[in-house]
Amino acid sequence: MGKVYVFDHPLIQHKLTMVRDVNTGTKEFRELTDEISTLMAFEITRDLPLEDVTVQTPVSEASAKVLAGKKLGIVPILRAGLGMVDGILKLIPAAKVGHVGLYRDPETLQPVEYYVKLPSDVEERDFIVVDPMLATGGSAVEAIHSLKKRGAVSIKFMCLVACPEGVEAIKEAHPDVDIYIAALDEKLNDHGYIVPGLGDAGDRLFGTK
Ligand code: PRP
Ligand code: URA
Repeated sequence: MGKVYVFDHPLIQHKLTMVRDVNTGTKEFRELTDEISTLMAFEITRDLPLEDVTVQTPVSEASAKVLAGKKLGIVPILRAGLGMVDGILKLIPAAKVGHVGLYRDPETLQPVEYYVKLPSDVEERDFIVVDPMLATGGSAVEAIHSLKKRGAVSIKFMCLVACPEGVEAIKEAHPDVDIYIAALDEKLNDHGYIVPGLGDAGDRLFGTK
């Protein structure tokens, strides 16, 4: 069964509180989402494999470590997931970026896929699917399904705010996928919004309504 990790680092929690604040405008919302994504990327890459090398320092030779060159892929769920990409790429700039376009039908809350573009070597990459919100879980479940259908075998899911319903949906549909979140909120309301949440992530990121 997939594991759930809540990143309770003080910097992540502090910035997340500012993101939640209804008085935080688009510019700050974007900047904070970017910063939180960088901090979460630091945590999520903890288990990247290293290999031994020798490096010449000004003083002597040293036995040291470098990243073993694992192939990574970031896949934002459009549109709100885009707000997390640059923050992650600051730490892992060589990662390839795929895209899955989904929107939630406002009536049925079911995800509707409208775009998919992934790196060609899907089978060889470790993917991190990103989206600020995990609400009913419909979008994340469908995005992960979309990657698997195209051959992806190693997938993590990372978001800012989740609720129990969304976490359960991923666990049930994709028990092989670990989930990384900054906060696990209380519940969904009747409109499918996370309570207390942060509102509509896409609209707040892009200044639309
Ligand atoms: C939001 C959010 C997730 C989805 C979460 O996107 O960014 O993708 O809802 O809800 P779910 O877990 O119930 O599927 P939205 O559909 O509003 O599209 P947008 O990113 O284009 O704003
Ligand atoms: N999508 C959002 O952007 N916010 C929510 O609370 C739920 C889904």
